[in-house]
Amino acid sequence: MLRFSSLPAPLDLHCLPQHVAVIMDGNGRWATERGLPRAAGHRQGAKALKELVRCCKDWGIPALTVYAFSTENWRRPTEEVDFLLLLFERLLRQELAEMQQSGVKLSFVGDLSALPPALRQEMQRSHNATLHNQQVHLTVAINYGSRAEITQICRQLAEQAQQGRLNPAEITEELLSECLNTTSLPHPDLLIRTSGEMRLSNFLLWQLAYAELYFTRILWPDFDRAAFYEALVSYQRRDRRFGQVSASQPRVAGQPIPALVSADR
Ligand code: FPP
Repeated sequence: MLRFSSLPAPLDLHCLPQHVAVIMDGNGRWATERGLPRAAGHRQGAKALKELVRCCKDWGIPALTVYAFSTENWRRPTEEVDFLLLLFERLLRQELAEMQQSGVKLSFVGDLSALPPALRQEMQRSHNATLHNQQVHLTVAINYGSRAEITQICRQLAEQAQQGRLNPAEITEELLSECLNTTSLPHPDLLIRTSGEMRLSNFLLWQLAYAELYFTRILWPDFDRAAFYEALVSYQRRDRRFGQVSASQPRVAGQPIPALVSADR
């Protein structure tokens, strides 16, 4: 049962994004500003993520995808990488019961083969256990890079063409979209990046082609319900034209994104 009652008044329930993507940035700076080790920032960041999932559930936003670890993050000091991977594993174990109770379905995208076996096992377990939940679909990008994702699809399609199983003329935007890690989800309507950085950092490059971008100086651990509300208000003020002259058909909950034509810019 969705709880709309806690939604602050001016937000229009019928025009909420159906899929929000988030680059959770600024954990390290949050900790450094307080004279704490970076690990403390990541722990606080995990609490902010839990609150965001609750908001999505309360406000009826069905899909949330977060960037937890990029393919570039391996370049961090070994100690921090190890801490993050262990934190993910511990969180998945500790939060599974609450996710079950809240109807959260958990999925993962990225090159999971490079992750420690214990973490992969926990990911598989939480994915299987929450497979049929329907309130919020939380997708966690771990060891994810968008260029790698698209390159892998090109290789796969080229192999099929070489084997005569695919006519190159059949390679369309729709087919490529179906091959993405996020194929079961609509493309995100809104991307939020915290901490003042204004980059996509190799996150969902194909999927975000028509997303509204929202950047805030708030550091991720401080991104709370009020901050999310602000982001949604900003989203609702945007005129989403999808390459047309005017947004003749504003999107409403459950309505698919209008079909894109190649002339769209
Ligand atoms: C970016 O801040 C944050 C990360 C690389 C880690 C994000 C992870 C969490 C919030 C935990 C989530 C847990 C699960 C299970 C998904 P940064 O370290 O780049 O901050 P900085 O730019 O200030 O250094």
